[in-house]
Parts: sequence; C-alpha cells; structure tokens
Amino acid sequence: MTRRTRIAGIGHYVPPGVVTNHDLEQLMDTSDAWIQERSGIRERRHAVPGVTCTDLAVEAARAAMTDAGWKPADVQFVIFATLSPDLYFPGNGVLLQHKLGLGEVGALDVRNQCTGFVYGLSAADGYIRMGTFDRILLVGAELHSPGLQFNTGGRDTAVLFGDGAGAVCLEVTDGADRSCVMGHRLHSNGEYAEILCIKKPGAANRPWIAKEMIDEGSVNPYMNGREVFRHAITKFPEVILEVLGDHGLKPQDVALIVPHQANERITEAVRKRLELPNERVYSNIGRYGNTTAASIPIALSEAVQEGLVKRGDLVCLASFGSGFTWAATLLRY
Ligand SMILES: CC(C)(COP(=O)(O)OP(=O)(O)OC[C@H]1O[C@@H](n2cnc3c(N)ncnc32)[C@H](O)[C@@H]1OP(=O)(O)O)[C@@H](O)C(=O)NCCC(=O)NCCS
Repeated sequence: MTRRTRIAGIGHYVPPGVVTNHDLEQLMDTSDAWIQERSGIRERRHAVPGVTCTDLAVEAARAAMTDAGWKPADVQFVIFATLSPDLYFPGNGVLLQHKLGLGEVGALDVRNQCTGFVYGLSAADGYIRMGTFDRILLVGAELHSPGLQFNTGGRDTAVLFGDGAGAVCLEVTDGADRSCVMGHRLHSNGEYAEILCIKKPGAANRPWIAKEMIDEGSVNPYMNGREVFRHAITKFPEVILEVLGDHGLKPQDVALIVPHQANERITEAVRKRLELPNERVYSNIGRYGNTTAASIPIALSEAVQEGLVKRGDLVCLASFGSGFTWAATLLRY
C-alpha cells in the first residue's frame, strides 16, 4: 500500500470575546477606517484572563476529533504549532497531551509562527508516509492578546492580531479515495529574523531577562510592517506556484487557496498575481485578525463548514511570516 495522509476531521475554536476596531479606538490613537483600509480587519477575538493557548487548543482539538469520530485513544502523536505557548518551556504539545488525556503519546512543538501549521502538516505527513504513525493530531493555536500593548505605542501590532485555534486529525490512507495531502514546499530566510520578532528575553542575553528589557520595550512584538508586506506579496504567490507546478497544476485548477490570514491587502495582491476571482481565495481576516499559526486551520475549517471545500476538491494552503518563513501544501480534501 502507498501510504498517504488525509484530513479525517477538522475543527476550530475562537474565544467568545469580540473586540471591534471601535473598542480599540477607546484605548489608543487609531481609527476603524485606518485599520480596515490597511488590513481589512473589522474585529478580532480576545480570550479572558485565565484562559490559555492550550485551553483554546483543547476546544479546537475536540471539535476536530468529533468530526473525525476519534476517541482520545486514537491519537498516536501530537504536533502543536504556536508562538504564544503557555510556558517558556516545556512546549504546548505536552500540555495538550495531558489536558486531552491522550496517554503517553509523543508530542512535538513547532516554532514557525505564521507557517507553523503548514510546517507541522509537512512533518505529520512525513511521519504518516514513513509508517511511524497512522493517526496524528495537529493543532495551530495562538493567544496573542496578553502579549500586545493596547496603547498608542503598541498600535502597529495590537490592531492586527487575535486569539484562536484550529486543529486537524490526520490519518493514513492508501490514496484510493482521492483525499490526501499531495506535497509541500518549505522555505526560510533568517536574514530577516529581526523584521518581525520579539527580541527579548532570550538566552542571547546575560542575564537572559532584566527589567530594562521591559522598560525599553524589547519584550513587545516588533514588526517592520512595510518590509513584511513587500516580501509577503512576492513569496506567497511564488511558493503557491511552486507546489502547484510540482503537480503540473495552475492556480485555476484549485478549488480554493487558503492563505494565512495576515492582511487583506496581502491576500488581494496574491489573488491578483494568481489571476483568481475573490471566491477562489479564502478570507476571514475581517472577523478574526491575524491568528498566526491558527489562521490556516481556522480558515480551512470555516471554508469546509461553508461548503466551499468538499471531499475530493483540490486545496492549496500557503503562508508567509516571521522568520522569514514561507510554505505551501497542496492537498485533495
Ligand atoms: C502594518 C501595515 C498595515 C501598516 O501599513 P503601512 O501603510 O505600511 O503604514 P506605515 O507603517 O507606513 O504607517 C503609516 C502611519 O500610520 C501610523 N500607524 C501605525 N499603526 C497605526 C494604527 N494602528 N492606527 C493608526 N495609525 C497607525 C504609523 O505610525 C505611521 O504614521 P506616520 O506616517 O506619522 O509615521 C502594513 O505595513 C502591513 O500590512 N504590513 C504587513 C503586516 C503583516 O501582515 N504582518 C503579519 C505577517 S504574518
């Protein structure tokens, strides 16, 4: 049997707390018009204090497991992608393993920010194809709200990011039913690591954490938005065309492109470059903002719920973000 990977179930969860652009206007010098015009975001979700990233992940994972008809004992391995883990270490994978009562299965953490879900999917696909595991739970989840600065000094990132989680249950298939992951393209260029990052604390510093880091603001997210934008609009289409080209396909052959929801203007640029109509490139950033590792599984989950993706449809997932890293997966849903 040729071992391939299929998505057996998918689910997502966003916390109930809606934060509109008008809410943010009360906290910082910004405007609904500025945010919508530059990013397409109207609102995002913020979890209440006490709720952690793994709490969001538990809900998304349970939804995906219900969709797949899996019980906890069916999960053989966990992959968790996030940049907002509950603890500095250990990673969220083991915390999710425990919260879901999965038994002593392995857990792997992926630190690839916006491309974390696609990188995680490629790793899961490799394990399944090799025969290491038959069933893997892959989660992308973020709790951005505690790390953002809700004042004018932090407005460049505070308006863009939101909380949420998405998950898929991945299982082995012989490919006969047409639903399977077909291939991936993965890239990075660490030359640009400091264009979108949190610089401190970190073991590059002695001491690794100090009050001055808070005072100087280097513990807050830093982003050179223009540089991110410039690279994103080139690399997104490039990596999509690469993975489609591997299979002799053109953008028009795919039922839906599900890009990482970074910014509506980036998504629009991708649509134009690929010469696709609006309905072939999914967007829900207006409602959730940028949820980093969670954005692709949330978007794919909603696209499936909305009937935009059916079993057997070709779907391309693509992402670009901090690192820089960029990546794409082609699959038949
Ligand atoms: C962030 C982004 C929306 C900013 O748009 P931009 O057109 O590049 O705007 P600039 O950064 O040049 O800022 C323009 C002005 O708006 C101001 N500004 C920044 N954030 C603001 C906010 N939330 N509200 C109001 N004004 C804001 C800036 O201070 C600047 O003011 P100045 O001209 O007086 O200096 C845009 O660069 C972008 O989309 N980048 C990609 C970001 C991204 O997707 N990141 C995630 C990748 S995974």
